[in-house]
Amino acid sequence: MFRPGRARRTTSGAALAVAAVAVPLLSACTGPLSTLDAAGSGAQRIAGLFIVMATVATAVWLFVAGAAVYAARKTPQDNGVRAGHKLIVFGGILLPLLLLGALSYSGLRQANELLEPGDGLVISVTGERWWWRVRYAAPSAPAVVSANEIRMPLGERVEFRLASTDVIHSFWIPSLGGKTDMIPGRLNRLVLEATREGRFRGACAEFCGLSHALMEFDVVVMSPGGFREWLEHQASDARAPSDRVATRGQQLFMQNGCGACHRIGGTSAEGRIGPDLTHVGGRHSIAAGTLPVEPDAIAAWISHPSAVKPGALMPPFSMLGADDLRAIGAYLEGLE
Ligand code: CUA
Repeated sequence: MFRPGRARRTTSGAALAVAAVAVPLLSACTGPLSTLDAAGSGAQRIAGLFIVMATVATAVWLFVAGAAVYAARKTPQDNGVRAGHKLIVFGGILLPLLLLGALSYSGLRQANELLEPGDGLVISVTGERWWWRVRYAAPSAPAVVSANEIRMPLGERVEFRLASTDVIHSFWIPSLGGKTDMIPGRLNRLVLEATREGRFRGACAEFCGLSHALMEFDVVVMSPGGFREWLEHQASDARAPSDRVATRGQQLFMQNGCGACHRIGGTSAEGRIGPDLTHVGGRHSIAAGTLPVEPDAIAAWISHPSAVKPGALMPPFSMLGADDLRAIGAYLEGLE
């Protein structure tokens, strides 16, 4: 019978230890929520600063560890008291002052550059419990209200104006730039410039209540022309339902009072409390990155919002039958 020997256990133990360190390190380098896979000028600066700081910190750690080993092998008589004093003045006072001063100066200078003015497009994002209200204001373009997804043009410096309704959130798109708190009663600015087209992920980075972990959003970086077209489309009224089920869904939506909280442009639904649903079918998710935009998922959400998102402020509509819920789902999915 095969019995693993001691050497084999040591090898697999070492392999496990390497894997335990390497897998999180390497897997954290890419992906839609990565700070090191930069797709924005701010994120590039931050990633560069991180690498410089990590390198300097590693060098300092190696120096201190080496000094500790050296000191453990020596007695105070070996080098004399004067050498010890010199080491303390150089290694304990001058070197930290110099290194920390240089790193702070570099960090603060880059933080300043991150706050330079934008190119004209302003996206106001308000943290709600637990979703994102998004408003676009671009020069010579119609104002647009949306939710839970942000689109921005490639290569333009976009100014984000960040606010919150009631609790503190933190707005963070790791691939594009640093995080900024959203504080009730205050407007914070953040300027982001995307350097690569694609779809990225944003998240709330400040504990804000029961569903903090369910507060994400998609970020789509488009060509400037594609973005202007998309903005024009977002400003237009919702498309009329195209089939029988969706038409019934629209009737149910209006009859059950959904329009008291949600707006659907071109209909009698004029609510402003919840997300604007005029073009909800064109988004990648509903409920702030929680569910796909599909009739079944929408039906599950409407029926029991707090089963999907604990503490959600939307009331349950569990009195509606499965067919009715799906019909509303089909109507909303069609609103592209
Ligand atoms: Cu919003 Cu955490």
